[in-house]
Amino acid sequence: MKNSKRILYPGNINKISNYSAEIKKVLVKYPQAKARNLIPILRDIQNEFGYLSRENLIIVSNYLNLPFKRILGVASFYNQFKLKPVGKNIIKVCRGRACHAKGSDKILEHLKSVLNLQNTGTTEDRKFTLESVACLKACSTAPVIGINDEFFGRFTIQDVDRLINNCE
Ligand code: FES
Repeated sequence: MKNSKRILYPGNINKISNYSAEIKKVLVKYPQAKARNLIPILRDIQNEFGYLSRENLIIVSNYLNLPFKRILGVASFYNQFKLKPVGKNIIKVCRGRACHAKGSDKILEHLKSVLNLQNTGTTEDRKFTLESVACLKACSTAPVIGINDEFFGRFTIQDVDRLINNCE
């Protein structure tokens, strides 16, 4: 019969003893601390904290015994990873060719103005993060805007206010 209990390797227990409960909760899932655990660990930490802080990347570097540069390189390479705190609502404006041709740049500018942002990023109250992203794979309904897990096609500047007001 297989024992489903996780065995934490003795050397790794010492490594995590000083970490916060949230970090420990993630790291105990990867007791062997192998390099192949890097992406799942980063994903779990982001789920826990909402983003990957430099401090937490250093912890991962120590835990996996991998150079910090490599951890940062992987975290920076994948779009799914956020290196800065994000807002409660994430708005994605497609910058793909079809959406650009249908005026997504004007929608992006309008959103920046409504959210009082100089560029893409997070509002001071952390309610919104505005991102400009590559093709969202719904080109036939361009221009496309994503908010959290929902996507809206044939989006217009007039839809912006409704979108913002519907967000908690
Ligand atoms: S270019 Fe925007 S969805 Fe493809």
